[in-house]
Amino acid sequence: MNSKEQLRDELFQVVVSLKNHVISERDSGRNCSGLYMKGEVAFQDEFIAEDAITNGEKACLTPLTLDDIRRELGDCQRCNLYQTRKNLVFGEGNQNADLVFVGEAPGEQEDLQGKPFVGRAGQLLTKIVGAMGLTRKKIYICNILKCRPPGNRNPKPDEIKTCEPFLIKQLEVINPRVICALGTFAAKTLLQTDVPISRLRGRFHSYQGIKLMPTYHPAYLLRNSGAKKQVWEDVQMIMKELQ
Ligand code: URA
Repeated sequence: MNSKEQLRDELFQVVVSLKNHVISERDSGRNCSGLYMKGEVAFQDEFIAEDAITNGEKACLTPLTLDDIRRELGDCQRCNLYQTRKNLVFGEGNQNADLVFVGEAPGEQEDLQGKPFVGRAGQLLTKIVGAMGLTRKKIYICNILKCRPPGNRNPKPDEIKTCEPFLIKQLEVINPRVICALGTFAAKTLLQTDVPISRLRGRFHSYQGIKLMPTYHPAYLLRNSGAKKQVWEDVQMIMKELQ
C-alpha cells in the first residue's frame, strides 16, 4: 500500500470508529459530547453531516456500508494473490448481524463462486449455524484473506497485513455482538497472539470491545471429528451470549 492509500485507509477507519462511537452513545442513552448533540437531541446523522459538510467530507453524508468497503477494495491488486485468484471473496450475510464468523481464506470452491464457506468445510459451517438456530442470512461470514492462496497454502504474514484493514472495516461497520474466529489464523490475527487455538478456544476474548470466541475451523473438524464436541461447547456459549 502506498502512503496515499494508507492515509485514505486511516481516515476511513477514523470515520467508521467515530460513527460507531456516536451510535453506541446514542443507543446507550448517554449524552454525546457537544460535537454530536444539539440541545436535548441525541445524535442525528444530519448533525454529523453538517459537521462533515463544514469539513468538506462529503463521503460522511450517508452512513458507511459494507458496499462502500467493497467498492474501496475494488479489483484489488494490493498483494500477489490477485494473480492466481478467480474471484475475490469479500464476505456474505447481514450487515446488521449480531454474529460474525471469520475464517482463514477462500478455498477452491469459494474462489470459483466468489462466496465464503461454500465448499465442504462451508457445508459443515452451515450445519453448525443451523444447529445454533440461525441461518446464513442472519449472520455474516468472511475471512482474514479475501483471495485464495494457491493450493490452499497458509496465508503469508504480508498478505494478512495487506488484507486485514478491510476486515477491520467490515467488523467496524457491522459492529456485531459476538465474533467467532474459525481456526488458528483467524484467532491469532484478530487477537494478535501466538497462543495456539487449543488454548484460546472455550472462553470469550475481547476484540475491540466485542466478545470473540475462538474455535476450531470446520476443515479441522472434517479431519478430526472428535473435536466437534468442543466446537459445540463453544457455539453454545455464543448462543447463550446472544440470547
Ligand atoms: N476455509 C476458510 O477459512 N474460508 C472459506 O471461505 C472456506 C474455507
